[in-house]
Amino acid sequence: MDEHDVRDAVRRKYGEIAVSAGRESCCGPSNCCDPVTARLYSEAETRGLPREAVAASLGCGNPTALLALEPGQTVLDLGSGGGIDVLLTAARVGPTGKVYGLDMTDEMLALAEENRRKAGAANVEFLKGAIEAIPLPDRSIDVIISNCVINLSPDKDAVLREAFRVLRPGGRFAVSDVVVRGDVPPDVRRSMELWVGCIAGAMGESEYVSKLRDAGFVDVQVEPWRVYSVEDARAFLTESGLDVDRLAPQVDGRFASALIRARKPVPADGSGDQTGPCR
Ligand SMILES: C[S@@+](CC[C@H](N)C(=O)[O-])C[C@H]1O[C@@H](n2cnc3c(N)ncnc32)[C@H](O)[C@@H]1O
Repeated sequence: MDEHDVRDAVRRKYGEIAVSAGRESCCGPSNCCDPVTARLYSEAETRGLPREAVAASLGCGNPTALLALEPGQTVLDLGSGGGIDVLLTAARVGPTGKVYGLDMTDEMLALAEENRRKAGAANVEFLKGAIEAIPLPDRSIDVIISNCVINLSPDKDAVLREAFRVLRPGGRFAVSDVVVRGDVPPDVRRSMELWVGCIAGAMGESEYVSKLRDAGFVDVQVEPWRVYSVEDARAFLTESGLDVDRLAPQVDGRFASALIRARKPVPADGSGDQTGPCR
């Protein structure tokens, strides 16, 4: 698939979702029935957030749940959507910290800014741009997070190179993403509908590890935590126009949500701007 076509399709789809965010579906918030986006955050975590930020959650994990964050740190969320992870992180790094949310879709940025205003988060800034060309200086970020976005990129090497560039030495990468386990039927791989739904563009576990290492990261870990069953696969395929009965058994157990962690090494001579307690 052509890179421009993928980006345009992704932007269009998430623009439409942003505009409809917060509408109630048959069973409550719009994301409650989706096997990928449902049940990611505890009620205690989301209690203080604007309802629209929670309803617009489109991730496939909770990248900051197990992450040690310190007051004063600078965090970047790649593909911040309606801003749920940005707002959760902002509360943890406090007024001396800063959280950037980067997104390419105008409608998502508008929704996120509205959610930031409702939450009263003064230490948050949303930036317009592509995750393949991050509009921030080298070594300016302590922690990079992201939630179900890197699989959408048609140029994952560029995303990981850029993530490495903007992290400080010792900085951490903690991302939730969909990964593939084993072979996937070619018609699933070719489906634009499944690409924009975070499925067709997903990398294999070992591919993720080697791309992160190629970008310069160390201590790379990919930990799948929710493996999608044949019934979940039916839900993915329903909208795609593919032959659901034929394909669902072939993708049973092949996709999973994973937590991906890595670290930018500190140069052996100890040089590098080590601000903040990175580990
Ligand atoms: C699946 S949603 C996830 C949103 C958010 N992380 C969450 O958990 O709710 C993907 C988001 O990434 C953005 N996005 C996708 N590809 C992007 C790219 N190449 N550069 C910047 N933003 C991108 C989309 O506009 C959308 O807001």
